[in-house]
Amino acid sequence: MGQEPRRGSRDQVELAVSVEISHCHRARVARGTAWRSGGDSDTLLRRRYLLGRQTFFRILWIMLREIVHLVRHTPATLRLRRRLTQVELYDTLMERCDEAGFAQERRRLVAGLSGAVVELGCGTGLMFPYYADSVRLLAIDLDEEFLARASARARNAAAQIEVRQGSAEAIPVPAHTQDAVVVSLMLCSVDNIDKVLAEVRRVLKPTGKLVLLEHVCSEGVVAGPLMNLLDPVWLYLNRQGCHMNRRPIEKLQQSGFIIHEAVPFQIFAAGLPAFPMRRIRASAGQPPV
Ligand SMILES: C[S@@+](CC[C@H](N)C(=O)[O-])C[C@H]1O[C@@H](n2cnc3c(N)ncnc32)[C@H](O)[C@@H]1O
Repeated sequence: MGQEPRRGSRDQVELAVSVEISHCHRARVARGTAWRSGGDSDTLLRRRYLLGRQTFFRILWIMLREIVHLVRHTPATLRLRRRLTQVELYDTLMERCDEAGFAQERRRLVAGLSGAVVELGCGTGLMFPYYADSVRLLAIDLDEEFLARASARARNAAAQIEVRQGSAEAIPVPAHTQDAVVVSLMLCSVDNIDKVLAEVRRVLKPTGKLVLLEHVCSEGVVAGPLMNLLDPVWLYLNRQGCHMNRRPIEKLQQSGFIIHEAVPFQIFAAGLPAFPMRRIRASAGQPPV
């Protein structure tokens, strides 16, 4: 039998302290705060805890900012909608968006393009100022009123631009003739993304590029489902067939495109929701099997 520690002796004090420490540790584990006591696994737990807390507050902050932003600007946007035509309203809101940083993304998107390029869903031609003079651009859209404004913008551009009515689901150019296809804020509103992407694949040269600026459905566990839920409301408000919950990157991958870059960004501009956005650079890759 081992010797009992003597009452009041150093041995007894050490035993009491070690029992107390182990009791505290178990209690902290039970409370989920074991990371406070140090050590490798504790450090990992602490990092995970802080990361989780940071992510939670970041998402909460973004959502709160988004809600405050929308609530603040909706009345003014509705007043604008009563006063302006659809084309004027689009340009007014998009010019604000461009001033808030979207113009920079437009510039980055088409920097370095040259040769034969098609822009799908060119709208009122807000991309036109950013094309280099080495670009020969065919810009198509379905909407005649948007195209009328785009034609006026085309005259002031450095690139050689032909504006034509046409659908992204049947691009009016022969197969494998284009150095690049440009898409800005259009996949959110097309009827059939798969058909558009099949067309893009058809018209691109084997070395051709597809570049896109698109808003996407959030990856967030709360924000993503919320965007699915609110999509019908947004569809009603924008009256342009724009969905807030599309996932263009997944669609590109399913269609066999290789994604070289998908840069996230977000723009807060009066009157428009600050959706999560991506600047995407892709190439056709091998046809899907
Ligand atoms: C949100 S606007 C974007 C306009 C422009 N690209 C920009 O960045 O400002 C979307 C445009 O896509 C056009 N669009 C929608 N579906 C289309 C289709 N299937 N083919 C061609 N254009 C289409 C709409 O008419 C509209 O002008």
